[in-house]
Amino acid sequence: MSPALLNGSDATATNGLKKHQDGFGTRAIHVGSEPNPETGAVIPSISLSTTYKQDSVGKHKGFEYSRSGNPNRNALEETLASIETGGAFGLAFASGSSTTATVLQSLGPNAHIVSVNDVYGGTFRYMSKVAKINQGLETTFLDLENADDETILASFQENTKLIWIESPTNPTLRLIDIPHIVSLARSHPSNPLVLVDNTFLSPFYSSPLLQGADIVLHSLTKYVNGHSDVVMGALILPPRHAELAANLRFLQNAIGAVPSPYDSWLAQRGAKTLHLRMKAHGTNALEVARALQKSPYVEEVIYPGLTTHPKNELAYRSLSPHARKFVDAYLTSQSKAADSEEAFERIGFPYGGMISFRIRGGAVEADKFLTSTRLFTLAESLGGVESLAEHPARMTHGSIPEAERALLGIGDNLIRLSVGVEEVEDLVADIEQALEAAVGSSIKSSD
Ligand SMILES: Cc1ncc(COP(=O)(O)O)c(C=O)c1O
Repeated sequence: MSPALLNGSDATATNGLKKHQDGFGTRAIHVGSEPNPETGAVIPSISLSTTYKQDSVGKHKGFEYSRSGNPNRNALEETLASIETGGAFGLAFASGSSTTATVLQSLGPNAHIVSVNDVYGGTFRYMSKVAKINQGLETTFLDLENADDETILASFQENTKLIWIESPTNPTLRLIDIPHIVSLARSHPSNPLVLVDNTFLSPFYSSPLLQGADIVLHSLTKYVNGHSDVVMGALILPPRHAELAANLRFLQNAIGAVPSPYDSWLAQRGAKTLHLRMKAHGTNALEVARALQKSPYVEEVIYPGLTTHPKNELAYRSLSPHARKFVDAYLTSQSKAADSEEAFERIGFPYGGMISFRIRGGAVEADKFLTSTRLFTLAESLGGVESLAEHPARMTHGSIPEAERALLGIGDNLIRLSVGVEEVEDLVADIEQALEAAVGSSIKSSD
């Protein structure tokens, strides 16, 4: 089976037939995972060797030393370049954070970058506490969702080399208009690269490279691996960035923050079911979000698939082609009327597995909720098959100064859920009983 054919974009038409492009799930399962020509093994073997025999000096079968490349990491990188649609080059790293560090180091000394203001706490920490001191990197943190064009353009400097986007942002799930930011970047003499951290939506719901982004970053630890048993990260770049990809590959080897063959093998196995899991995460999250909306114990529900989200239209417009197909079929299946617009208005649509909500009350009620759930485990991280819940102000975003957190809307009553793929009725029942325990009982006792 040829990866070129499976990738579709490289396939050429023959015999006048329209060229066939393999869909997301087919590429996730087959690209980078061809049966072994020697043994016939359908699943790649794990190659633990750190070094590879050379027939004569410099003459080898493509591998020399495992930090520079090994069969499992190369196979995973091929899969990633194919499923992050619009990608051509994939590079895997030992964590999402070492991926961030490598990209920022590639900018050299005294560069300036513009970053979305509620970026992942660890990324904020690396930009402001490590890169700033070690390489003189200056970061302007901006509300890229609401800032007007003038403000954004005014933030660019001669040495602005990169714009860092996370969309949805974490944990308040605000959405950035990626094509618009790309057009602003292209219009400015500094012409910065646009990087999108696509961890929250995964390559299934969003394809930033098709929207003009230059680099996509993932913490593979989350949805791509999907089973909460690997820490890993990746970069994916489009075909026009061969030189940049080669530079980053040089740094991948020179810095050496690379994943093990076993972790690469696990992440590749996880990626094979990404499309199935993301559909289930999305439909489950939508139902949980709707249950939260109905609860008298909840002040606000933040889920971009709900029509109450201020950027709900943008969320729909920016779905990847494969997610749009899934969402439209879902809306049709839920529709009471002849067209699916009615379902869109009434129900909303699946848009990833992350929800944030403000519980009625404060830290006490949030704590009670988080210790009353049976299926949602109180834990950091996200994107695994199991549901998790956490308190951003004291957990994932605890490293952000309090005043800053307040500006970002990360208050004591904000709770973040990573909705898993368990049976949705069980998840809804769990949320309802935990809300009752956290808020219902305190209301009753104060009556
Ligand atoms: C959006 C986002 N980017 C990057 C990272 C860092 O990834 P890792 O934990 O794999 O180092 C995380 C981790 O939570 C994240 O949520």
